[in-house]
Amino acid sequence: MFKKSDVISRLIFVLFAAILFLMVLGGRLFTNIEEDVYVSEEENRIVVGVSQLGSESGWRTANTESVQNAFTQENGYFLIFNNARQKQENQIKAIRSFISQRVDYIVFAPVVETGWETVLQEAKEAGIPVILMDRKVDVTDKSLYVTCVGSDFVEEGQRAGRWLEKDLARRGMDERTVNIVILKGTQGSSSQIGRTIGFSVVAANHGNWNILEQEYADFTSAKGREVMEVFLRKHPDIDVVISQNDDMTFGAIEAIRDSGRTVGIGGDITIISFDAVNTALKMVSRGDINVDIECNPNQGEYISQVIEMLEDGQEVESQYYVEEDVFTIENVTRELIEQRNY
Ligand code: AHR
Repeated sequence: MFKKSDVISRLIFVLFAAILFLMVLGGRLFTNIEEDVYVSEEENRIVVGVSQLGSESGWRTANTESVQNAFTQENGYFLIFNNARQKQENQIKAIRSFISQRVDYIVFAPVVETGWETVLQEAKEAGIPVILMDRKVDVTDKSLYVTCVGSDFVEEGQRAGRWLEKDLARRGMDERTVNIVILKGTQGSSSQIGRTIGFSVVAANHGNWNILEQEYADFTSAKGREVMEVFLRKHPDIDVVISQNDDMTFGAIEAIRDSGRTVGIGGDITIISFDAVNTALKMVSRGDINVDIECNPNQGEYISQVIEMLEDGQEVESQYYVEEDVFTIENVTRELIEQRNY
């Protein structure tokens, strides 16, 4: 006969051993399932690791959707997607994880231009081609990536400047002082750098363009509003706002209206924006935004064409620019707004 306390201790021991066994088995099962899925997908499909920089804007959401629509299983891809939430360290971690998973291609939208040499060298040594999406990297060794697919940001900035030139001339304001403030995107990003350079190239030809202040507002609506409120408090005489994306523009317009001033055609402050997302195009059609310089987020399809070329052993160019337009009240149509699903 066992004592009652012996029975209880044996039962506890058996229970503990059973839990331990299940945990080990569960862990092995989980690992095996992951490995099995990965290996079988890898055998049949092109495995693409995509590191998206974040989800700061409507444009970014559309860019992510474009990638997810291009790299589908039906199109022969297995997509591993990571959102870095605006942190370069998260992008570096994601790229390292893609390398260790031995993906076929790495596609990434770098949050800023600098600081990528080491991780791109690791990808090169692993023999994984890297394709830059949307923004660029500033590295000496250009062989660290295969190609870039994105926008010509300097040209976009120049388009903004050229539009302002014409608009001021049309309104007979090309001689008097024009007070300008600039809401800049994420500091150190290609879109912020390129648009700033492009606009200043045109501004340099106009001694009467007075840039009162320019400040980073991170491409977000909340920050756009916050920075614009500060601008409005400091400068009572702003004529033009250059806002380097639509989300910042939305926030800035709220701040301007709250201050009692008006925007757009016939308003106190001329609004120049970038991206041309659906909501902004509606505002262009109502005359609230004077001009919107398009930045095309539909880059997934272009990138999959580049991958097909590489799979065929074809040479690819070092840069592919997406098609983009400039929108004002004159050319924004109802059809265009309806067609634009972002
Ligand atoms: O790099 C492209 C820019 O990034 C877009 O203009 C902006 O909306 C996004 O966040």
